[in-house]
Amino acid sequence: MVTCYTCGLNGIDAYIVDIEADVTKALPQYDVVGLADMAIKESKERVRSGIKNSGFEFPARKITINLAPASVRKEGTHYDLPMAVALLGASVELAHLGEYVMMGELSLSGEIRGVSGVLPMADYAKKHGYSKVIVPLENAREAALVPNLQVYPVSDLKEVISFLKGETEIAPFEASETVSFDEIDWKLDFADVKGQENAKRALEVACSGGHSILMSGTPGSGKTMLSKRVPGILPPLTFEESMDVTKIYSVCSLVSKEHPMIVKRPFRALHHTASTVSIIGGGTKAMPGEISLAHNGVLFLDELPEFKREALEVLRQPLEDKKINVTRVSRSAEYPCNFMIIAAMNPCPCGYYGSHIKECSCTLDQIKKYQKKISGPLLDRIDIQIEVPSVNYDEIASLEKAESSQTIRDRVIRAREIQKMRYQGEGILTNAELTAPLVKKYCVLTQDAQNMMKQAFSVLGLTARGYDKIIKVARTIADLEESELIQMHHLAEAISYRDIENRMMY
Ligand SMILES: Nc1ncnc2c1ncn2[C@@H]1O[C@H](COP(=O)(O)OP(=O)(O)OP(=O)(O)O)[C@@H](O)[C@H]1O
Ligand SMILES: [Mg+2]
Repeated sequence: MVTCYTCGLNGIDAYIVDIEADVTKALPQYDVVGLADMAIKESKERVRSGIKNSGFEFPARKITINLAPASVRKEGTHYDLPMAVALLGASVELAHLGEYVMMGELSLSGEIRGVSGVLPMADYAKKHGYSKVIVPLENAREAALVPNLQVYPVSDLKEVISFLKGETEIAPFEASETVSFDEIDWKLDFADVKGQENAKRALEVACSGGHSILMSGTPGSGKTMLSKRVPGILPPLTFEESMDVTKIYSVCSLVSKEHPMIVKRPFRALHHTASTVSIIGGGTKAMPGEISLAHNGVLFLDELPEFKREALEVLRQPLEDKKINVTRVSRSAEYPCNFMIIAAMNPCPCGYYGSHIKECSCTLDQIKKYQKKISGPLLDRIDIQIEVPSVNYDEIASLEKAESSQTIRDRVIRAREIQKMRYQGEGILTNAELTAPLVKKYCVLTQDAQNMMKQAFSVLGLTARGYDKIIKVARTIADLEESELIQMHHLAEAISYRDIENRMMY
């Protein structure tokens, strides 16, 4: 019996799968066992053709291929290559087979095609004692993102067998050059946005503390324009964060072949017609949804009231848990989804309620109905809410260049560093993640600020959650000033970021 190794995937977590091939002298028969799904049954036929068309003999014997552990469901096309190798290993001597973890899809002619999920599998292999992987050429760069892993890129089955027999050499793939954060061409810059100092400041605070933000304003006031520029003021991903994000994209076959490493924080614009499955993940293959594709980045909900209520409701739990269990018939996969929400809306159906430039043409009932569409519990989880009024003529006509994204980003990075230091050992990185006990521990107000908060509490009719939200945002504002104590002006600014909820009519 011959054994070779590959990986299976559960979400972005991998595990080693042993592929055992047993070829015995008996009436020809060909079975694949070990809880294989439909794709693996098809794989059986590709393996047969691939072997024959590569010039090898397909044994006219009783063949049994077992995928172990048998108890977990396996899916994907990457089992083709290890199955073919194990099968051929029964008739030719393949020394050192046990040192490799391999993956790849076979074409009927024996060529090796790219597969999804290479990064999480290669990373797992490296962390569990394997230092060599054999992967399809088109996935080589992706596998080579794993530090100190020897990656052997291959294009067809013949090449793999000759390599494993020791007849030919394959040069290990050189570690991939990743595009560094500093080389990113952002294209969209905050310098292009005229005026809107208040909105820019609120976005800076949001990005600094990882707070979700909702902007409400008249049509054309620049909400979409501002939102799209947010990735440029977010701090770079750390290596671990980059790996996690890239793993999720790898599972979805969304990584670039040339520059597989994702170094920019994701910005996913959700369309209001998006289905629940596309938002949270699922489908026949339990794939990640938009919230996981937004992991460590931003989920952008433009025209918030257009979204179906159910679509907004499903966001609540993941926002809290920062991970999501995607279930399907027989199993579930867990994906991370630590994202911040940026949402935009008009204040009413016509867009001009509360505006100075044009009279609102909506009835009171229409406005109420429109605002009611935004779920209260979701609004509860959005720390910062602001009005974005239209810019006036002087601002638009001004030739003065506004502050660049880079300058803003530098301040955001500094504020994030302060938080990271402070929360060492707490398992969180940002103020937005503070739990109620941690708020007590780390958010100390000056006496003046305490008095102010007491007053605000009764005037605004705050709930405990509303109270914590204000304090967390104030913590971020204080961090931007590198102040350990939360002072009155920090608190006052945080309280001003509760605009919309207070003005809601329902
Ligand atoms: N502050 C600004 N500085 C420069 N250009 C602006 C500004 N605000 C708006 N614009 C211009 O107006 C266009 C429309 O703005 P944008 O789409 O961002 O508005 P919006 O607030 O999202 O409107 P809507 O509510 O209709 O979605 C922008 O593409 C930009 O060209
Ligand atoms: Mg818009």
